[in-house]
Order: sequence, then C-alpha cells, then structure tokens
Amino acid sequence: MKLKITLIVLSVACLQLICPRPAAAQAAPAIKAQDTQGTPDERADQLIAEMTLAEKVSLLGGDRSGFNTHTIERLGIPGFWMSDGPQGVRNAPGPNASRHACAFPCGAALAATWDAGLAAAYGKAVGLEDRARGTHFQLGPGLNICRVPVNGRNFEYFGEDPFLTSVIAVNWVKACSAQGSVPTIKHFAANNQEWNRNSVEVQADERTLQEIYLPAFKKAATEGGIVAVMCSYNRLNGFYTSANDWLLNQVLKNQWGFKGLVMSDWGASHATTDVARGLDLEMPNSANLSFANIQNALNNGSVKEADINHAVHRLLRTAAAQGWLEAGWTQKQTNLPLDSPESDKVALAVAENAIVLLKNDHHTLPLDRAKVKTIVVAGPNVSATGSNAPANMGGGGSGAVETFPSHYASASYLDGITKSAGPNVKVVYLPMPPPPGDAAYAMLTNARTSAHGEAGLTLTVNLTGDGPAVQIPLAVQTAINTNWPAGQLPFGVPTNRDATFTWTGVLMAPQDSDWQIVAGGNPVIVINGRTNAPGDIIHLQSGKPSPVSVQLRAQASAAAGRGRRGGFGGGFGGGRQIRVALVPPQIPDLSAARSADAVVLCVGLNRNTESEGADRPFDLPVLQQYLITSACKLNPHTIVINNSGAGVGMSTWGPAAGAMLQAWYLGQEGGNAIGEVLFGDVNPSGHLCSTFDKKFEDNPAFPYYPGKAESGMNYPVEPYTEGIFYGYRGYDKAGKKPLFPFGFGLSYTTFKYSHLKVATGESNVTVSLDTENTGKRAGADVVQVYVGEQNCPLSRPVRELKGFQRVTLNPGETKRVEISLPRASFAYYDPAKQDWTVDSGKTFTIEAGQSEQDIKLSDRIVYR
Ligand code: BGC
Repeated sequence: MKLKITLIVLSVACLQLICPRPAAAQAAPAIKAQDTQGTPDERADQLIAEMTLAEKVSLLGGDRSGFNTHTIERLGIPGFWMSDGPQGVRNAPGPNASRHACAFPCGAALAATWDAGLAAAYGKAVGLEDRARGTHFQLGPGLNICRVPVNGRNFEYFGEDPFLTSVIAVNWVKACSAQGSVPTIKHFAANNQEWNRNSVEVQADERTLQEIYLPAFKKAATEGGIVAVMCSYNRLNGFYTSANDWLLNQVLKNQWGFKGLVMSDWGASHATTDVARGLDLEMPNSANLSFANIQNALNNGSVKEADINHAVHRLLRTAAAQGWLEAGWTQKQTNLPLDSPESDKVALAVAENAIVLLKNDHHTLPLDRAKVKTIVVAGPNVSATGSNAPANMGGGGSGAVETFPSHYASASYLDGITKSAGPNVKVVYLPMPPPPGDAAYAMLTNARTSAHGEAGLTLTVNLTGDGPAVQIPLAVQTAINTNWPAGQLPFGVPTNRDATFTWTGVLMAPQDSDWQIVAGGNPVIVINGRTNAPGDIIHLQSGKPSPVSVQLRAQASAAAGRGRRGGFGGGFGGGRQIRVALVPPQIPDLSAARSADAVVLCVGLNRNTESEGADRPFDLPVLQQYLITSACKLNPHTIVINNSGAGVGMSTWGPAAGAMLQAWYLGQEGGNAIGEVLFGDVNPSGHLCSTFDKKFEDNPAFPYYPGKAESGMNYPVEPYTEGIFYGYRGYDKAGKKPLFPFGFGLSYTTFKYSHLKVATGESNVTVSLDTENTGKRAGADVVQVYVGEQNCPLSRPVRELKGFQRVTLNPGETKRVEISLPRASFAYYDPAKQDWTVDSGKTFTIEAGQSEQDIKLSDRIVYR
C-alpha cells in the first residue's frame, strides 16, 4: 500500500515536471510585473521570487513563433518581439504586420561615411521604426570585423577596423536604445566568415581577440545604453560561442561588467549547460533549454537554479530598464508612421555620404549637365524600376529589408540617374540580355571532331571501377546534353560500372570572336589546355583549331540498372541534366557607347550573390568584367559603380575605367544618391572602411582562409594565424600595397593639411591641424589620426586608427580640427598580464592622413 502511494505521488510529481501546471491553476501572485518597484535589478528579483521553476524555464527560450519570448500572463510579463536586423526592420510583430519598412544602406555603407552623427541618426531611425511596429529587440547592428573580403556578411558589418567599428557602433546602439528598443549587437564573436559557420572552430589568441575582434562589442556593450548580445554560430577556441564560458562569463559579464541579455543565434544553442556557461536565452525556441532538459540538468548538477535565475534576471532587468513592464506600456506607438519620412531622410543622407570615389581620371566625374548630351547606362545592377524591389538595395539573408514599393524608384539607379540628368541629357539604357535559354544547348557551336572533321565532338566512355577497364567509342554528338531517360544510358552503356564520359574535338571559329561557356551540372571543360569554369569567356581565333574536352564522371549505381549515384542516366531530367554550350557573351550591344559622352556601368553583387550562409567569390562574375572591359574599349569615359560589402577584384578592369565608385548597398535611396554624385550635386565623401586587395591572394588572412579539416576532429578549424596583422595592419607589416587602402576616398575637391600640433596633456594627447579646401567645390574631408608605437616589447602594427573627424569645407575654407587621444589609444593587450598596458616612456608616432597609406603630417611623442 505504501509503495502504491509513493508511486502515485511520484507519478504526479513527474507529470508536473513534464507538463508544468497551467498558469491559471496556480496561486494568484503576490506581485505582478507592473507592481514591482525599485531599480531594474530589484524589479527583476521581485518577479523571480514569485516565479515557479516552469515559468522561469519558459523564459530561457523563444516561444516557437520564431521571434518572440514567452508571455507569463499570471505575472503580467509580456512576450518581447525581435526583428532583424542591421539594415532596418525586416519582420515586424503581429499576424498581419506589414512586411515593408525603411531599407537603410547597409552597415559597411554607414561605416564608409565615417560619421558618428549619421550613425546616431541611423540608430535612432531604426529605433523609431521598431516603436512604430512594436518590436522590442532589434537584431542588429552586426559588429564583426572584415577579416577577408569574401565573407558573405561583410555588408552587414562596419568594416575592418576596431576603432571605426566601435565609434559607429556606440553611436548607433545608444540612439536606438534611447527610443525604447533594445539593439542586439551580433554575432559575438569571431564570426568573420560564413563558410561552415555552424561548425567551424575559430582559433585565435587572446591578444588578437582583445585587440581586434572584441573591442567594438566591448564599447557598445558598456557605453551603448541598454543593449543585448547575440552569440554567433561558430566555435571559438574549443567551444561554441553560446557555450563559451571564457567569452560570455569571464570576458563579457565579468571583465566588462555587461548587465544585459545574451541570446543565441537562431538554433545555435547545443547543450543545456549553455545556460551555466553564459547564455541567457535560446532562440528561436527552447529546443535545447526545454523544461525536461533543464530538469535533468538540475538533477545531475550540471545546471544550478542560480544559473537559471541569473539568465531570467537579465531578460527581466532589460525589460524593466526599458519600461516594458510599466502598467499600460505599449511598445507599438501608433502615432509613429510605418513609412517614415524621417527614416527616408536618414537613408538618403547615409547613402549620399557613403559612396567612395575610388578613381577619377581626367575629371571624368562629375558629369556636367551643360556639356553632356548622351549617357549610356548598362549593367546588371542598373535596377530599372519594375514590380520587384531592386536586388542591389541591400545584402541578402536575415538582414534583407523590403522597402515599400513607393520607394522602388528612389532605389533604382536608372531612375536616380535619369532624374539627376534632367531633361537635356539623353539617357540610353541598355538592358542585359536574358541568360541563354534551352535552345542554346541544342548544338555545340563551332565544335568539330578535328580541324577538317565533321561537326560535333567524339564521345567516348571509359568504364572503370569493378570489372575490366573498357573504352567504348560511341558516336559523334553535335550537342552535350545528358537529358537521358531515368535509369538508362545511351548506346548500351551499363549502369552498374563507374564511367567517365568524354567529348573531344576542336573548336573552330569562322572569325575571331569571344564565346561564353554556359554549362549546368559541373562538367570539367578543358579548352586549349586550360580548365574553364562555366561562365568563363574564351577567345577563338579564326581558322585556329582549339582542342576541347568535356568530361563527366559517374559512379555506378548501388543497385545495378537503377541509374547512377551522383551521376547521370539516373534520372538526369528535372534539373540534374548536364549540358554545355558556347554562346556569344550575353551583354547588350554597346555600339551606342562609342558616341556617348559617358558610359555608366552598374555592376557588382546583390542580395542573392552576397548573403548570409555562404561566402562569395572575390572576383566579379566574368560576364560583368567582360562588360566593363568591352565598354572601356569603346569609351574612355566609362564610370563603373560597384555594389559589394567589401573589396572585389578590380585589378583586371579597373585600369581601363575612367572613374570608379564603390557604392556598397545603398538602400532605398541609393538611386537618388548615385544620380546626385554622378552629376555633382553631392560631392562624394565616403572613405573605405576596409582594405581593397589587388588580388585575394595578397590578403594577409588568405593563407589561412577558409579553414581546414584537422585529423581527429569532426569539424573544420580556422586558425587566425595572422593574428593582429590582418587587413591594413598586415599589409603594413609586409610592406605591401593594396589596390585601395583603408580610409581611402577621393573627392571632387582637394584638401591640404598644415600646422600639425600634438600636445601632451594630463590624461589625453591632443592632435590638432588645419585642413583647407583647396579646390573649387564644397566638400567633406575625413581627417584620420593613426598611432604607432616604436620599439614595443611586443610586435605592434606600424599604425592603427585612433581618431577621425569629418569636416565640411567650402572652397578656400580652412578649419582647425582637434582630435583627442585618450590613454586607450596607446594601449595594447599584454597576454602575460592578461590586461591592457601602455608603455610609458616609449616613443609613439602620431600621423594624420587621408587614408592609412596617405599620411600627410606626422610627429612623435614620448608617452608619459
Ligand atoms: C542570423 C541572425 C539573425 C537570425 C534571425 C540567423 O540566421 O545569423 O543574424 O538575427 O537568423 O533571423
């Protein structure tokens, strides 16, 4: 009998653990969220004292809607909604919420303004967009450092330099937070590539992390108002960042004294113990930090109730501090417009100031409306207004914002250029031809079995693997198209052997001409001894045979007769078919470019090609490079406008271009800003926030990117072997020159520096100088101050950015600029001391310049 009662008691207890009692059945609370009093910490504690374990655990994970925390009605705790991301508000709360919002320029564009005021305006505007919709947490900005240009998310971030990133970040988050929405700085930390982001282990030494990859997080977390932190997907030195005690507990929470909420990236919490290792909230749901898992962890001691209280405290403290627990609080402010003219103004101002003039030979720019009669506009990123939002407004992924259709025209480069050109300039738009259709594959143009042979290529099949090697000469084929019936191969080729299909012959062009290789299904294509990728453009000389071979490998089917694994003949129709064709390069007829006064080419990446989840190539697509070089041959006044979040390969086509503009992703006002810059209504003043490499191989991190498999490990590792000598710090150490250095940006006017004065004060060093506009147009200059320590006991960069100021000057005007360098400007992280240190008595160079390579004035001081 006793045993029976115990069992009943036990099973009731278990039931309660698995299915916690519904709130309604629980006792009325002594206090509700709205009645708590005192500081945010005290209010959080009062609530926690009232909460059941189940209620607490429910606040450790999102509520399964994907972007909300749990509501606890019994205690008056609302759910808190989160919206992506760094380029504006992507997903507003509510079942019928409008998916439209202001599409701001991307993070890299904001950083390229080097304008703390604009960063604050941006953060404020995003905060107000949140309040107009009812968002509590804004999942941005992104503060990862641009270590390699190919990181698919560089556009979201603020470039390569920790100081510039910090200044932009602090201003952004402070202003956003002041609107009552909590900016969430991400992705903490060392998420500097998307390659294998869910598994890769970044290996970086402590100095590198403290000096390069963490400072912007530290600044924003400690000086940016009420802020949340989102962990990244990757591992860092042995642990996922959401389970990284060193990163979250020791550095963020203890060293920096961060009091806010730490959430996981979506699906990036992997173990229940994460909550003990510093994670406060699992998003998007509690797949991992579920009640059952937590209960087990409490039972086995790997998690303590104090850990849970600690995590819940941080969410409730944040809510109390922002006012979200006040009686009658409504996060959504219906008096604020959804389509806000204030946001539009900020988006335009950032776009106008972000564009970097990289090159301007023979004053190609600005275009003079009084002289220019015709301009030709072409390229895939022209984004002529249509029913779809221009794809070059922003980078892709979770940060992609959809603007209101009424802004498509201001986003469209063609519309912006046409508007700025005015009625007296003829704008000739040459759209890109559509990609080649199915018909292109019907015949392999120019192919012959030999110089004097018949049309087509000879197909041979080699059977390998199990069984004797057999070569089956098959037939001459005039097209390469493996659209064979499922489970069958032609000419009686058996399906139960590994096989290599090879088409060979020569290409014979009737006249000298360029051809683009289009292909599906990854065949190996060798022409004139060179392996080509689909998309490559080859030149064929008339009468000269170019040997060609196209090869496909297919593995035998596991079950004979049922087609091939990963091969063909096993159902290649339905998109898996392999085919190859040669087509004339699909660019528009450029003859109008010859007589035009200028050609404007809009090229680069877009939200589909530069996006979250994958890294992107360094070089622009071959067809775009071909378009540029073809246009430059016809017209030296060719202006190339590039969209990307960081550097792309420009060395092959850049020298031929008359002018080049780096346009990042300029958001919904990008078209207007581009038009204004081309015609000189706005003088470009953006400066690069990352180094642009001549070739990716020159990049200091190139040898270690993207990472490698290590024996005995079931995930790849990415050693940051270059340490602090990445980006310009690495170039300077190696004495190498990039294509365009960090901080670089031309103007339609020129600036001259003089009268540098470096004054050593009690705690700060003050650098002052005169900058004079020596040209004929008003313009903005960005004075950059770099510091370098001489003979440091530890190796230090030649120079590091430690101060900057943007100044606007009329022609002939001079302004004195004063930049203050606090002690931190001279410090480095000493791993032996595990602390920052300044070498008193050492000599430091103080350099002022217009880029990290263009130092105009310099001085030396001995730091006291
Ligand atoms: C991204 C985050 C984003 C989250 C929610 C993740 O894939 O890495 O930056 O905030 O999704 O959309």
